[in-house]
Amino acid sequence: MRAVVYEGPRTVGVEEVPDARIERATDALVRITTTNICGSDLHMYEGRTDLDTGRVLGHENLGEVVEVGEAVDRVKVGDLVCMPFNVSCGFCENCEKGLTAFCLIANPDPNIAGAAYGFADMGPYNGGQAELLRVPYADFNCLILPPEAEERQTDYVMLADIFPTGWHATELARVRAGETVVIYGAGPVGLMAALSSTLKSASKVFVVDRHPDRLKLAEEIGAIPIDDSKVAPVEAILDQTDGMGADRGCECVGYQAHDPEGHEHPNLTLNNLVRSVRFAGSIGVVGVYLPQDPGSPDPLYKEGEVAFDYGLFWFKGQSVGNGQCNVKAYNRELMRLIHTGRARPSWVVSHELPLGEAPEGYEHFDHRDPGWTKVVLHPNGQPR
Ligand SMILES: NC(=O)c1ccc[n+]([C@@H]2O[C@H](COP(=O)([O-])OP(=O)(O)OC[C@H]3O[C@@H](n4cnc5c(N)ncnc54)[C@H](O)[C@@H]3O)[C@@H](O)[C@H]2O)c1
Ligand SMILES: [Zn+2]
Ligand SMILES: [Zn+2]
Repeated sequence: MRAVVYEGPRTVGVEEVPDARIERATDALVRITTTNICGSDLHMYEGRTDLDTGRVLGHENLGEVVEVGEAVDRVKVGDLVCMPFNVSCGFCENCEKGLTAFCLIANPDPNIAGAAYGFADMGPYNGGQAELLRVPYADFNCLILPPEAEERQTDYVMLADIFPTGWHATELARVRAGETVVIYGAGPVGLMAALSSTLKSASKVFVVDRHPDRLKLAEEIGAIPIDDSKVAPVEAILDQTDGMGADRGCECVGYQAHDPEGHEHPNLTLNNLVRSVRFAGSIGVVGVYLPQDPGSPDPLYKEGEVAFDYGLFWFKGQSVGNGQCNVKAYNRELMRLIHTGRARPSWVVSHELPLGEAPEGYEHFDHRDPGWTKVVLHPNGQPR
């Protein structure tokens, strides 16, 4: 099969690799029709993780079931399914509690809870930027989509990661109706946090970034864009929230947060959140931070440490929640919001490309080139 393979820093190739296949009785084999490039792929693409060369990338996957193992009961050949980016067993102590991002079974490394497709340190599973994907624990991991999803794949594929992850940011931040929310990052995840906040009837949603195309997408769903290359973002938010700050904050950038000039500061968005969220407010961090980052220009962060403004955070009585999204906890309900037309997450999609153009897609999305807001790949041709 053809697949997008990590070849080294800032290099991916589209190569012939052995076909994905059923390896255990609980697996399904899915013919991938729609799969996305994610900001999380870029951390690996840029060589900032220890991903082995030769690994197949892709954790935001949708397709048709073409084969099931003999222990698969619920999922049938022909079903159109979307898989959470998390690979999880469904029966371990954490999965039982809905904490599928921290599955105790799916990752063979006994020191790491949680697994994902095509991801550094998240188990041996290959990704779905390929013609075929092996889905472990298929009955648990496949979300069966309604028939109309066939024609709306760019909406439904967002259930694999960014829509639930944006929702998770607002859950961690405990956003409630009528509240004000500030979101750092207008990438696909930040935009989904803005969408989720509006779905939860937030009264005002601020989105901070410096890319006009991304800020425009935030504005399109009624959020207030703040361009931090033109104004100081914390002051801009305080000015519009009676001087006290927003009720809730979402971090949707991660450890490669940088200033508008491009210099990385892994503490920048975290400390901006502490300053732009009110006393006793809460913050959800879904942007990725790593235990080690030898490639960081910041000496502290090479060991995963961040100069966090803990004193002010404590003084303001704020709380924070963070980590990978438990996609299974939300994907079914968010699917219904798509089905009834209440949510149309495909508004962030800028490009739909064949698999062969994945290298260009990676390059442009990685540069955050104007107009490249979310790239969707179709490994088996353009769906109807
Ligand atoms: N927790 C999870 O389960 C989960 C799931 C998916 C993605 N992620 C992570 O979420 C983060 C965002 O993903 P994405 O796909 O939106 O990626 P992205 O890289 O396209 O978007 C990040 C955005 O942040 C902006 N930015 C950079 N520094 C900033 C700053 N100081 N202030 C404000 N904005 C700033 C960039 O201009 C960019 O538009 C990544 O770290 C990704 O790995 C986490
Ligand atoms: Zn993703
Ligand atoms: Zn589990």
